[in-house]
Amino acid sequence: MGNSTVIVEIDKLDQFLDRYEVRQGMLIQILLDIQSEFNWIPFEAMDRISKRFQIPLSQIYRVASFYKAMSLTPKGRHLLRVCLGTACHVRGGKRIMEKAQQFLALQGEGTTQDLKFTLERVNCLGCCALGPVMVVDGEYHGHMTTSEVEKILEPCQ
Ligand code: FES
Repeated sequence: MGNSTVIVEIDKLDQFLDRYEVRQGMLIQILLDIQSEFNWIPFEAMDRISKRFQIPLSQIYRVASFYKAMSLTPKGRHLLRVCLGTACHVRGGKRIMEKAQQFLALQGEGTTQDLKFTLERVNCLGCCALGPVMVVDGEYHGHMTTSEVEKILEPCQ
């Protein structure tokens, strides 16, 4: 989904930024804190940091896009990865992916509108013998069946 469909709470953002003072080296810390509070770094956050602390937007963008721990697109609280590598694919990985999409009402990969889940496809998780494999928040689930998708995701709701 595009960023435009995610509503950024500007008031919450402003209150959040009230805690910070201008000091050397604070930019990375603010961005990391925004990432952990909002789970991503909205453009609005970079824009407000730029205006409040007189830091060029280009510099903020450079930092935010450099660090892997920071995301410029919305991410859900739960990260769901479905393997569609060859070994998982031949064992029904595609059906697992379709079931996950159906459960989350997503067309493909992406993040649900309520920012609860991000769904990603991966090409191999290095445990092909367990295929098809699905990973939820770092926990591996092997020999997946479509009925298990719902059972695993339901408690995350
Ligand atoms: S192909 Fe899925 S774990 Fe290797």
